[in-house]
Amino acid sequence: MNNYVFKRETELIFGQNQLYLLPNKIKQHGSRVLLTYGQSSIKKIGLYDKVVKLLNDNDIFFVELGGIKANPEVDTARKGVQLINEHQLDFILAVGGGSVLDNSKHMAMSQAANKDVWDLMCNQKELAEVTNLIKIGCVLTISATGSEMNSGGVITNPDTDDKLAMAHDEATPAFSFLDPTLLETLPQKQRIAGVCDTFSHLLEVYFSSHDDEGFEDRYTEALMKNVIAYSDTYLTDNLNYEANAQLMTTATFALNGISGIGRYAEDWSTHRIEHELSAITDFTHGIGLALIHPYVLETYLVNDLADKNALTKFINIGKNVFSMTGSDLEIAYETVEAIKNLFFGWINGTSIKDYGVESFDYEEAIDKLVDGGRLAGTYHVFTKEEVRTIFEKIS
Ligand code: NZQ
Ligand code: ZN
Repeated sequence: MNNYVFKRETELIFGQNQLYLLPNKIKQHGSRVLLTYGQSSIKKIGLYDKVVKLLNDNDIFFVELGGIKANPEVDTARKGVQLINEHQLDFILAVGGGSVLDNSKHMAMSQAANKDVWDLMCNQKELAEVTNLIKIGCVLTISATGSEMNSGGVITNPDTDDKLAMAHDEATPAFSFLDPTLLETLPQKQRIAGVCDTFSHLLEVYFSSHDDEGFEDRYTEALMKNVIAYSDTYLTDNLNYEANAQLMTTATFALNGISGIGRYAEDWSTHRIEHELSAITDFTHGIGLALIHPYVLETYLVNDLADKNALTKFINIGKNVFSMTGSDLEIAYETVEAIKNLFFGWINGTSIKDYGVESFDYEEAIDKLVDGGRLAGTYHVFTKEEVRTIFEKIS
């Protein structure tokens, strides 16, 4: 196991009927609030009215910024920074999912740095040194990204067709309300995307280096098993409290850092490839991952076959997650097949065409990924040809 330092500031307030605690939680961190949210869902489900009433009843000053898009963009983050400065705000309350949270994290970063959102994003060294961010709190309405308890934030610049990720400890939410009943209104596509995103996060950290074992991998396998155990109910019965609770908690703990502690490296190839697809076509993140991840695993397997010891990850998932028996080689192949069947079964499709995208021009994306160094390559160093093959297969 590698050395690690692990700390997470986020207080999780889990369960239904807990929202009355929101004003007290906010007052622990700030008094002048920027309320951020997405396009329309929180108004439709009545959550906006509840939050606004709690803020008004408790004399908490707030300014609001709605309209944050799924696959959030630089412009709304820039607008948030303006509002924070103009109204001297000292706290952001993000009500929504990964997109609202991530955009809020970029507002806090950019405001503290006194630098344009995208310029900061493109200067990771400077970004790492930013400090004194205003705190963020969250009322989560969709289970998927883990952004509610992690330091990550992803943002799209539509002018350049770039979608980039950052991580900064101070951007980790101070608290997050996780109410499973808020998931009841999620559209089916978002439920599917959330399951796929969660499973993909687990695979990404699992296949980060060949050297991890023990706690790192057993913890991650356990969460994989839990996603599989509850996914059927979650995807067929919106009102099932237990399934909503299990997926919500599993998604949060799949990417809050625990699955990564002690690991020797983190690779994230599938996500980097998917972010190019999302940047160009506005594809739903979790669905894109489901299409791409099986082919990334196939690429890993082909390369790992050269050294039988390198098959350990495939064999362990086969045995510990899917209860497979047989020879090591059989299990390795069957594991990739089983994961492919899971993803393609969840999304009920195999190509971007199934989701209304006829084609997309990926040559520039391949250059950015390979020549531009966006594929970190700690488990496997992708060639341009390998990435091109994946884009061809999903097209
Ligand atoms: O915009 P509104 O109207 O609110 O609708 C949203 C949105 O259209 C809707 N929705 C959310 N909660 C709902 C609801 N509809 C009905 N009832 C509810 N309770 O769902 C749609 C998707 O929301 P979004 O926030 O975009 O989803 P998600 O949480 O999956 O976030 C995706 C974004 O997060 C990034 C992705 O790349 C993508 O940009 N990621 C962030 C990560 C992180 N910060 O750690 C890691 C991930 O790997 C990912 O890259
Ligand atoms: Zn993801």
